[in-house]
Amino acid sequence: MTLDPREFRNTVGCFATGITVITTLDADGAPIGLTANSFTSVSLDPPMVLFCLDRKVASFESFAVGKPFAVNILAADQMDVSNRFAKSGPDKWDGFNFDTWDNSVPIISGCLANLECRGDSIMDGGDHVIVIGEVERMASAGEDIKPLLYYRGGYNEVAS
Ligand SMILES: Cc1cc2nc3c(=O)[nH]c(=O)nc-3n(C[C@H](O)[C@H](O)[C@H](O)COP(=O)(O)O)c2cc1C
Repeated sequence: MTLDPREFRNTVGCFATGITVITTLDADGAPIGLTANSFTSVSLDPPMVLFCLDRKVASFESFAVGKPFAVNILAADQMDVSNRFAKSGPDKWDGFNFDTWDNSVPIISGCLANLECRGDSIMDGGDHVIVIGEVERMASAGEDIKPLLYYRGGYNEVAS
């Protein structure tokens, strides 16, 4: 049976998620970042997370086993950050300041949480790949900071 792609998107969009910006460095050491809501935790021991990466994105080649990347979990007031990194193009980082931790990958400030990871494995996932990373360092904000949510194709916020 062939499923309708639009209906599939609408159906999986019923699952509310947070929004992250995944960051790394390209081969020349320039910052890379893309908005991703496919993030989830995988393992507690060792601490591992994953995200799904579209084979067609410009930053595809910048993710590899052994390379560091960071997961920046966006707060409710960071919709502009989500929109900025959901577009392709060389100007993504223009005028955008970021911190770094141990591995020089961009750590976005004002987030709900940040995790610095090292690429552990990359698995086939149809038109995406599944990037699994081991978490090496992390930080999270206080409980008063609310998450930015994605639900049915649009931004949302928690009720309280
Ligand atoms: C809310 C939201 C979630 C997204 N989630 C993903 C994702 O999980 N994986 C992915 O590869 N692209 C995802 N995208 C699309 C990328 O952010 C988009 O293709 C981006 O332009 C890629 O940047 P690049 O081409 O510079 O690599 C998402 C976009 C939005 C708005």
